[in-house]
Amino acid sequence: MKLSLTLLSSLLCASTALAGSSPHKRNVFNKARPTIEKRLARQPFQHPELQKRASRFLTDKTEAFAVNGSGIPEVPFDVGESYAGLLPISDDPDETRKLFFWFFPSTLSETPEEVVIWLNGGPGCSSLSGLLTENGPFTWMSGTAAPVQNPYSWTNLTNMIWVEQPVGVGYSQGTPNITDEVELATEFRGFWKQFISTFEMQNWKTYVTGESYAGYYVPYIADGFIQANDTEYFNLAGISINDPIIGDETMQQQVVILPFVEYWQALTFLNDTFMEQMRQRQQECGYADYWDTYFQFPPPAGPFPVLPDPYYQPNYTCDMFDNFYSGLLEVNPCFNIYHITETCPHPFSQLGIINTGDYQPPGAQVYFNRTDVQEALHAVVGTNWMQCTDINVFGNGNASSDAGDTSPGPARDGSLQRVIEHTNNTIIGSGDLDMILTTNGTLFAIQNMTWNGVQGFQTYPNKTAYTPYHPEYNGGALAGAGVSGVWHSERGLMFYTAHLAGHELPGYTAGTAYRMLEILLGRVKDFSSTEAFTTQSGNFTGNGTIYRRGE
Ligand SMILES: *[C@@H]1O[C@H](CO)[C@@H](O)[C@H](O)[C@H]1NC(C)=O
Ligand SMILES: *[C@@H]1O[C@H](CO)[C@@H](O)[C@H](O)[C@H]1NC(C)=O
Ligand SMILES: *[C@@H]1O[C@H](CO)[C@@H](O)[C@H](O)[C@H]1NC(C)=O
Ligand SMILES: *[C@@H]1O[C@H](CO)[C@@H](O)[C@H](O)[C@H]1NC(C)=O
Ligand SMILES: *[C@@H]1O[C@H](CO)[C@@H](O)[C@H](O)[C@H]1NC(C)=O
Ligand SMILES: *[C@@H]1O[C@H](CO)[C@@H](O)[C@H](O)[C@H]1NC(C)=O
Ligand SMILES: *[C@@H]1O[C@H](CO)[C@@H](O)[C@H](O)[C@H]1NC(C)=O
Ligand SMILES: *[C@@H]1O[C@H](CO)[C@@H](O)[C@H](O)[C@H]1NC(C)=O
Ligand SMILES: *[C@@H]1O[C@H](CO)[C@@H](O)[C@H](O)[C@H]1NC(C)=O
Ligand SMILES: *[C@@H]1O[C@H](CO)[C@@H](O)[C@H](O)[C@H]1NC(C)=O
Ligand SMILES: *[C@@H]1O[C@H](CO)[C@@H](O)[C@H](O)[C@H]1NC(C)=O
Ligand SMILES: *[C@@H]1O[C@H](CO)[C@@H](O)[C@H](O)[C@H]1NC(C)=O
Repeated sequence: MKLSLTLLSSLLCASTALAGSSPHKRNVFNKARPTIEKRLARQPFQHPELQKRASRFLTDKTEAFAVNGSGIPEVPFDVGESYAGLLPISDDPDETRKLFFWFFPSTLSETPEEVVIWLNGGPGCSSLSGLLTENGPFTWMSGTAAPVQNPYSWTNLTNMIWVEQPVGVGYSQGTPNITDEVELATEFRGFWKQFISTFEMQNWKTYVTGESYAGYYVPYIADGFIQANDTEYFNLAGISINDPIIGDETMQQQVVILPFVEYWQALTFLNDTFMEQMRQRQQECGYADYWDTYFQFPPPAGPFPVLPDPYYQPNYTCDMFDNFYSGLLEVNPCFNIYHITETCPHPFSQLGIINTGDYQPPGAQVYFNRTDVQEALHAVVGTNWMQCTDINVFGNGNASSDAGDTSPGPARDGSLQRVIEHTNNTIIGSGDLDMILTTNGTLFAIQNMTWNGVQGFQTYPNKTAYTPYHPEYNGGALAGAGVSGVWHSERGLMFYTAHLAGHELPGYTAGTAYRMLEILLGRVKDFSSTEAFTTQSGNFTGNGTIYRRGE
């Protein structure tokens, strides 16, 4: 996902200034090797439950939102019961600002009274991208010819809603006029109250989840729920974020990038001259000392000092991130900062171009920009839908201003702390192959935060995380199994990694994200568990022929 306006423009500027290379591609999915695909070939996954769902949600109030599950363009199967459309952000009858949602009831025969919200980041990016390429009931991954049923859909476990927010994003309506996360949370609360009333879900447990810049949205919205003191509408039960920005950008994205590249040097192949120059800059810019001093488990007593943002310095010398990015693009013009093992070519994404260098074949359409899709989903037909909007959603009414979100990262101002302490159910994840927000960068931000009376984690995460084996096969939505990462938990905050995930963790490692949701919802204890997915009867294991069983 686009991460932040500042970062993106810095990427564009710096890359151009330093190397003249064009930034690259984001959201891509590797294909399984043909031999394995052949060996595994069997009937594609088919969801048996869709036709017999109970319609407890279908009422006079919700009827107008009902989506015809067999009428989704290009989707050759019934996606089941769902509701989509716009709801205002307040009960004022003249309210012009509306958020767009797509709500899918759980396919479990008995689901507790609970609902999970999913949010993508940006700022300005649509959560429908998560639905289509990460955790939705059907997925259409980059480089694949058609959508498929997703065996790892989060709707398999619970009631799911994908929301396009804040005002200005995707199909949402109205003029954005917010400047910070507290206003964003107020907007969201207004919408959420309308949603809960419409679908009669008062007092249901609510979990807020998301990715990337939603590392800001999710804790601030959850904190907004807590502040409302109104569990009839805002009954917060936990949050989960992956590959999130939660702290200071210089710490999370600049200081950590040399160690990251050194770690992956056997994959990146940067030459010695370049690496030596970068090592020297790491010293000169004070990043080496900062890393040595503060990246510790347990951490030294905080608060950790804030280093200058190199983007606002007279030259880009200390902008390690963009300098590396430029160098990496010279070696591998398809280098993907969101998933660093990718090489050329760029596969086409149904979500459209968001970075210069993305590939769109002539005549290709952006899926959610199609008239038939907009009609099917009760969106305003003719909306110019973009995966990440080109207007400024934090511009205080000035859509073309450069002003950004004025809130600090939620790990720095108490909002994330309050959410952890209120729920003792916060899960933060990280794809190890993500370079834009690295595992160690996220841990660094955590080390400067105090919650439940103690600062940071006392040990570096080192417990083995396990993803169950499972029988599903579906060429357009695959998930690995076995030993999948490491995890750690202290005082209500759990952290996990996914070795093979890039930035969009539920898209790259769908089984691991599915297990995460089982933990968040309280159905599985933690990532050490080797029990099968709660939605499957058997305990499937790797048989050593195709997959090697994890220890
Ligand atoms: C945004 O505009 C609405 C009126 O359209 C107003 O009620 C609201 O207070 C404004 N919000 C901010 C944060 O300026
Ligand atoms: C909720 O309760 C807290 C603490 O009791 C209080 O500070 C806050 O103003 C209340 N918020 C609302 C919206 O009533
Ligand atoms: C992350 O930090 C740990 C602990 O210092 C270190 O062992 C590891 O190599 C680092 N990984 C990367 C990718 O920088
Ligand atoms: C560390 O946390 C404090 C708040 O406890 C915050 O003021 C400071 O900006 C944070 N430092 C960094 C580098 O984010
Ligand atoms: C760029 O800025 C750094 C400090 O940010 C300084 O050490 C360096 O000399 C500057 N380089 C040039 C070419 O101005
Ligand atoms: C070394 O790597 C940098 C960054 O990729 C590149 O600009 C430079 O041309 C390379 N040097 C040689 C001799 O290839
Ligand atoms: C969406 O469709 C409109 C009208 O066909 C077109 O002008 C616009 O460029 C499209 N937007 C994207 C992001 O493809
Ligand atoms: C994890 O780290 C702790 C604390 O450093 C250590 O006691 C423990 O042995 C480590 N466990 C593994 C599996 O490495
Ligand atoms: C959360 O866990 C801490 C221990 O880490 C405990 O002291 C606190 O009471 C718990 N809070 C809630 C709301 O359960
Ligand atoms: C499931 O299989 C794994 C791997 O063989 C095993 O470790 C675990 O104990 C089994 N779990 C159950 C609940 O049978
Ligand atoms: C999702 O639910 C379907 C239908 O019950 C089931 O066949 C499938 O195995 C489930 N997927 C997972 C990962 O449990
Ligand atoms: C291992 O699993 C594959 C796929 O389910 C199956 O085709 C194969 O027969 C199994 N091999 C053994 C030795 O059980």
